Amino acid sequence: MKPRERAIRAFEERFGGPPEFVVRSPGRVNLIGEHTDYNLGFAMPMAIDRAIWIALQAREDHRVRLASLDFPQPVDFSLLQVGHVSGWGEYAHGMAWTLQESGYRLGGWEGVLASDLPTASGLSSSAALELALARAFWAVTPWEWDPLAVAQAAQRQENEWLGLGSGIMDQLIAAVGREGSAFLIDFRELSYEAVPLPTGVAIAVMDTRVPRGLVESAYNQRVEECRQAAEFFGARTLREVSWQDFQAGQERLEEPFRRRARHVIGENQRALEAADRMRAGDVDGLGTLMTASHASLRDDYEVSCAELDWMVEFALEMPGCQGARMTGAGFGGCAIALVDETAVQAFCEQVAGRYANRTGLEPDVFAVRAANGAEALSFNPS
Ligand code: GLA
Repeated sequence: MKPRERAIRAFEERFGGPPEFVVRSPGRVNLIGEHTDYNLGFAMPMAIDRAIWIALQAREDHRVRLASLDFPQPVDFSLLQVGHVSGWGEYAHGMAWTLQESGYRLGGWEGVLASDLPTASGLSSSAALELALARAFWAVTPWEWDPLAVAQAAQRQENEWLGLGSGIMDQLIAAVGREGSAFLIDFRELSYEAVPLPTGVAIAVMDTRVPRGLVESAYNQRVEECRQAAEFFGARTLREVSWQDFQAGQERLEEPFRRRARHVIGENQRALEAADRMRAGDVDGLGTLMTASHASLRDDYEVSCAELDWMVEFALEMPGCQGARMTGAGFGGCAIALVDETAVQAFCEQVAGRYANRTGLEPDVFAVRAANGAEALSFNPS
């Protein structure tokens, strides 16, 4: 059963009637532009048709009560007593905290959550959960939905409540995604533009099933390395450093800062170039840029791992594959491939088989479509 139906059915069993609202919030893949957001550069993510769903109804008081069919332990707290907890409930407390800090007066609600988005695999289930929770808070109040403001509040929760240096990419795409399109995001201007996916190709997700070990500490370390590299060039962020500046100064820049800067500055250019290739319908050009992005993340930014590299290697050997790369923060999780639509089914089966033979791990390889951002729908049983 699909997660929407599972959430609704479980809600009805628990509360004895239909929900008032159903919220959907998508995961994402990033086509290109990795580890650029906290450097105020460019990226091109898309929301996908794997999502977190919440069936809910308003409460008269200040409690939030959320049972999950897919995560252990329910969440149950008062909006007047937000604090740190263990497990996924931390996100619910954190979102309540950040929204209240931003001046929203929140109301209580109760519901059931179901998901078909794998967790901890680089498809941004955390941002999907954050935006699902925000949508639930919005559903029970008359506020107008402001996707950028909500994404910023969710990022603040990651930075200040959870202590992660994350950029805003995942929250923003979960908020603004659109069916059929990726979005070119400019993180300095906080502007974004839909770029339709070329026709005739599909995006395949290849989940290595390697848990993303050490991702948090290594991520914060990369953020700091980039800050130091920018400082070397007398800039506030690497966005301000041009390729020419980099070439002129790189000899004097120590490792690993030199390679980190080379990745970020080159990746910004690749993301912009990829948008041009997509607009021109140049699938081959887009694929080549994606594969170059993987090499840079592996060799210069050092956030890949053997399993991601094998997955990308196997993908690139398949008929109809135009390009492949890791997606998300790295250190395990998922890679993606750009594959001719007619070849994608065979691609998924064969890549999965080769990877399983090589690693003994059972990967999950599936095609995704570009989907809309987080939304709340009044529940209509018909
Ligand atoms: C994680 C973070 C994002 C972004 C990516 C890497 O997904 O949450 O902000 O930095 O890693 O591109």
